[in-house]
Amino acid sequence: MTLPPPGSVVAPVARVGVEAPLGVFDSGLGGLTVVRALRERLPHENIIYLGDNARVPYGTRSPETIIRYALSCARELSERGVKALVVACNTVSAVALDRLRAELDLPVTGVIVPGARAATRAAGEGTVGVLGTLGTISSGAYTRAVASFSSRTEVLGQAAPLLVALAEEGWTEGEVPRLVVRKYLSAFFAPEEAEGFGLPRSAKVGCVVLGCTHFPLFRELIEHEIRELGGRGIPVVDSAQQTALEFEEFLITRGLCALRTEPGTLQLLVTDKPKSFESVASRFLGSSVPAVEQVDLKPC
Ligand code: DGL
Repeated sequence: MTLPPPGSVVAPVARVGVEAPLGVFDSGLGGLTVVRALRERLPHENIIYLGDNARVPYGTRSPETIIRYALSCARELSERGVKALVVACNTVSAVALDRLRAELDLPVTGVIVPGARAATRAAGEGTVGVLGTLGTISSGAYTRAVASFSSRTEVLGQAAPLLVALAEEGWTEGEVPRLVVRKYLSAFFAPEEAEGFGLPRSAKVGCVVLGCTHFPLFRELIEHEIRELGGRGIPVVDSAQQTALEFEEFLITRGLCALRTEPGTLQLLVTDKPKSFESVASRFLGSSVPAVEQVDLKPC
């Protein structure tokens, strides 16, 4: 078993007992892909998930606003007695993680470092292509995280904000998302003019990271369009699995795993429209979802 690298999870002292729940939050639905991965690895942990869907998207907002939103989500979960926090939002992980760690008396982990580690591996000698929100791409967080694993690996980022709106709508299939995915992915391939119309275009990247928790919903479409554009597949990396793996290692090494033997519970909180959240959430969770509760967050 390996210890998490410096910076991936911090604040070793949990101030609540090991049976306390884990807190997970995101700007909306997307973080449920991280919840699914956590529940697969840590089936006995209770989890409280908070989706701030009243204020989604975060990815187009200023760093100051993202930090303020992130603090209000984190404080809500902290007041509910969570033992550790998983920031299941790339944008918050990119912009607000240090601030959360400074302000909270809890271990806090994000999704960028695990995603960058998996991507550096998957890209081999190639460049890491990152699809993310404007906030994530312009923060340069993936570039810094990849550089900490390999000084030779370059990063090419592409903001893909429309995919967040499509995911929140549950519009993940058909011609509209296909064209949107194709347009964004084109940034990772040589220009059509250079290769000849209709011919496969050479890829500029060795892997594509789904650098937004909403994007795994488009995974098949993204893989399909990569093959259409380049004539062959390129590895697609989803940080959820690696985040769950590294977080499990962290809990084990710090003696923070729940000791109960029955399955852990899941509590879902949102800041708006619990019914519509419920109807789309099962597609992220891959299982039926419990009743969703609406909460009002205290302003920060
Ligand atoms: N879930 C957020 C992320 O992973 C993005 C969605 C948003 O823009 O709020 O970056």
